[in-house]
Amino acid sequence: MKKLLITRPIAEPVVAQAETLFDVTVHEDGALDVAAAAQALADYDAILPTLGDQFSAQAFQSASEKLRCGMLGNFGVGYNHIDVVAAKAAGVDVSNTPDVLTDATADIGMTLILATARRAGEGERLVRSGEWGGFGPKALLGTHVTGKTVGIVGMGRIGQAVAHRCHYGFGMRVVFFNRSAKEVTMPAEQLPTLTAVMQEADFVVVTTPGGAETTHLINAEALAAMKPTGIFVNISRGEVVDEPALIKALVDEQIAGAGLDVYEAEPHVPETLRALDNCVLLPHLGSATVETRQAMGQMALDNIIAWSKGEKPPQSVT
Ligand code: GLV
Repeated sequence: MKKLLITRPIAEPVVAQAETLFDVTVHEDGALDVAAAAQALADYDAILPTLGDQFSAQAFQSASEKLRCGMLGNFGVGYNHIDVVAAKAAGVDVSNTPDVLTDATADIGMTLILATARRAGEGERLVRSGEWGGFGPKALLGTHVTGKTVGIVGMGRIGQAVAHRCHYGFGMRVVFFNRSAKEVTMPAEQLPTLTAVMQEADFVVVTTPGGAETTHLINAEALAAMKPTGIFVNISRGEVVDEPALIKALVDEQIAGAGLDVYEAEPHVPETLRALDNCVLLPHLGSATVETRQAMGQMALDNIIAWSKGEKPPQSVT
């Protein structure tokens, strides 16, 4: 039996199925650092890793001669925690879990747009504090969402799902920035530059992949192009945003608010950000529904099964 490491507990039916096919170990102690990732590459035939596990070039290099692993079936659409070039060079296949989490992640984007615009975090804290004095015509006034302009940065599957919800659900105009020209099947205007999108949008929603090519795509200059009434939402990866620059823009009230699901050094969230009332902060919940997490686990396992049969994993990214 091939040895499979599942690096975090996942849905029981998926683990149960894996156990009928592989000699399974479920790692219960959180994310793998580089040394633990290297050890896992040496000890297991296949690994089902996820966000936070550090399969860096260094991990592949440390494993090198001892490398046993041939497959990383990642649990998650984003795989910026895996050095795919190093994996490929080492002959390790890598797959991800696209599509199954698109709706759940787009829904978190909407949650953040609405919660930030309508000051839901502040309101909730007020009710829980026991200090709420009752309905007030001028109390906790937020920003209207319906009919506004949303600017999508990265018009992939998740970007389009957010755009769809904004346009058809909230009557919003959609503008977007995408590196390549993109035809979409809904009313949405591709603008030539990121700056143009940042300027036009009342709500900017970042939905690009992470990784070297998008690191700090949203920097101080991009944020400076936003309207002072603008709300910034990030549901992609923390590193896409220069976090200190975002914090400065919020503290200086250069923009009106931010809704964040991801952070540069997760799970560390800077204290200044946590102290800001004009932010809604979620703990990376994009795909966190029971149904979606089960589907992600199943897809990751299906890719590992395909690999174990000598087939190309259907969601291979290598
Ligand atoms: C979650 O962030 C994922 O990449 O699946």
